[in-house]
Amino acid sequence: MIVLGIESSCDETAIGIVRDHHELLANVVHSQIDIQKAFGGVVPEIAARSHIEVILPVLAQALEQAQLTWDDIDAIATVEGPGLIGSILIGSLTARTLALLKNKPLYAVNHMVGHVYANFLTTYPDSIASPPPAAIPTFPMLAVMVSGNHSQLVFYKDHFSYQLLGQTQDDAIGEAFDKVAKIIGLPYPGGPSIAAAALHGNDRAYTFPKARMTQPYDFSFSGLKTAVLRRVQQICGKDYDFPSTQLAALLSESQRNDIAASFQRIAIETIVDKVVTAYREFNPSSVVVGGGVAANSELRRQLTERLPCPLEYAAPQLCTDNGAMIAAVGSYAAEYQKRADPYTLRVNPYRRQM
Ligand code: KG4
Ligand code: ZN
Repeated sequence: MIVLGIESSCDETAIGIVRDHHELLANVVHSQIDIQKAFGGVVPEIAARSHIEVILPVLAQALEQAQLTWDDIDAIATVEGPGLIGSILIGSLTARTLALLKNKPLYAVNHMVGHVYANFLTTYPDSIASPPPAAIPTFPMLAVMVSGNHSQLVFYKDHFSYQLLGQTQDDAIGEAFDKVAKIIGLPYPGGPSIAAAALHGNDRAYTFPKARMTQPYDFSFSGLKTAVLRRVQQICGKDYDFPSTQLAALLSESQRNDIAASFQRIAIETIVDKVVTAYREFNPSSVVVGGGVAANSELRRQLTERLPCPLEYAAPQLCTDNGAMIAAVGSYAAEYQKRADPYTLRVNPYRRQM
């Protein structure tokens, strides 16, 4: 079975094509990073307009990359949420229209489940240089979801049978990376910029707090972000009323690198502490990591050091938003779930539901 997956929940317009659950045939991602960079983050209205402009060319490119025609496609999968409503709507309306026009079954997929299933792709096309995971993850499976919009720990008993153990109560970890980068004057997206700066910094130079939560698997990153802001104000000798956008210019390069390294260590440790606790409690047979922050090498280093099981990762371009992961879930949805009705499918942007 060949499934075409459409992803447009944030600022990537992406289409992937997957055969028989695991074989990735095409992965085309149009990123708006260059457009959104000018604003230091994603502007929802601009994101939605850009999706409209590029979604059909991205679709044509994906079919061409896979060397397939519509006759070869057995089903379409699309994201129902979470994400930016205007953005999700473009992908969803495209998928609904195509399902009707091409007479294909349609499946609605949760974006976060998509990040998990990027780990189920074990054969890549030549366009992806990194090696794929050697084997598919086994159940029960602990999924560590770390992206720009979400931080979640999810325990999967089987396909589509999962329990949300905990999630962020405010900012997601990727969002914290992006906001801290902005405070210290590093370019968007903040995750890769902080990771690069941290390589030259001392990760013990500054002490930052880890949030204590009532529920053991919930996260909070907004306090850490504010702690970084207060520390930068202190280093620069400025008070609360000094514009935060002007602080970065007062930092030296070594101060910036030290803040990046110290923040990154604590943010990642916060995630890894909970992963280790959940691993001990639930004794999963595999652990998978998904979302843009899965590309972070400090996260990978700490997980390898502290977890007793070996970990495999999807290629970096399959950790950030992509259509391949949606097609991968779609191929299982076609087996385990009901079809969506292309006339009535709704979207659900709300992030605290799975
Ligand atoms: O999963 P994703 O592409 O989009 C969402 O669904 O949110 O994640 C994007 C996030 C951004 O916040 C970005 O800064 C972060 O992933 N990110 C990283 C790295 N690469 C991307 N964070 C830390 N280290 C990285 N190497
Ligand atoms: Zn995502």
